Amino acid sequence: MTVNELSARLDSILREVPDKDFDKMCLMEDLCGVTREQMAIYPDKKLSEAAVNAAVKGARRRAAGYPLQYILGKWEFYGRSFKVGEGVLIPRPDTEALVDETIARLGRNKPHGILDLCSGSGCIAVTLAKELPESSVYAVELSPEAFPYLAENVRANGAEVKLLKGDVMNGALLENFRISEEEYLDIDCIVSNPPYLTDREMEELQQEVTFEPETALYGGTDGLKFYRVIACLWKELLKKDGLMIFEIGTEQAEDVKKILTDNGFTDIFTANDATGGIRVAGGYLR
Ligand SMILES: C[S@@+](CC[C@H](N)C(=O)[O-])C[C@H]1O[C@@H](n2cnc3c(N)ncnc32)[C@H](O)[C@@H]1O
Repeated sequence: MTVNELSARLDSILREVPDKDFDKMCLMEDLCGVTREQMAIYPDKKLSEAAVNAAVKGARRRAAGYPLQYILGKWEFYGRSFKVGEGVLIPRPDTEALVDETIARLGRNKPHGILDLCSGSGCIAVTLAKELPESSVYAVELSPEAFPYLAENVRANGAEVKLLKGDVMNGALLENFRISEEEYLDIDCIVSNPPYLTDREMEELQQEVTFEPETALYGGTDGLKFYRVIACLWKELLKKDGLMIFEIGTEQAEDVKKILTDNGFTDIFTANDATGGIRVAGGYLR
């Protein structure tokens, strides 16, 4: 099959997929090694049977609603590549707003102790470690399926991130950060994109999202379980003037601000994502 013939075949398989041109390009580039430029210059180039089969198989899965990111096995976040697959949440552009706000509030060219809770693919921890290279970054993740992706993404991106497998809902985990009877490691910032979907939202998931792990999505009946526990338990680790900053669901700003206030945080703030929705909330422990 030639490049042009494969392109027509994928057009036909992907015809009901919303971003079909983008998805086709990704499949041809990643599974057949044909770039957009090569498609235009060498339309009659013959492709190997293996490459054609891989692209057709990928397109069929995509047409059946399977996430493109899992088919490709990787996705970009903040300009870096992250390995993904079933068992780990796909990094979202929304989460870049959390990273932007965290960097803006901490400031560059200074050392910070940063702890990323519910780290998943490691997109937040790795990005902060690379963007703020003087900092010490720690990442906590519970899922045995997600943890290998976290470790691999730290390694592949050459990031300095210390990893801990554990349950953020369990206060005993804080002991891993203790350096003496009275003191914990210096943590200036706790950042987290925890599971935050409600019962209702879990029932109305888009088909693609149903392939992602429930443990990465479900935040208890009202979606706020992790915010309550993290704000209450993990504030113990924060230094004076320390920052706690969360990604939040589109309708959670008021609830998360209240949770932070109730736990003694002040100078509460929110920030928007690129589409203008309030998707970040945080505060300081003065
Ligand atoms: C919304 S995902 C965020 C992943 C990643 N930080 C990101 O922004 O793409 C939440 C993550 O929390 C993890 N998780 C769920 N319950 C946890 C727990 N009790 N302790 C630690 N991690 C947990 C899930 O496995 C998942 O990786």
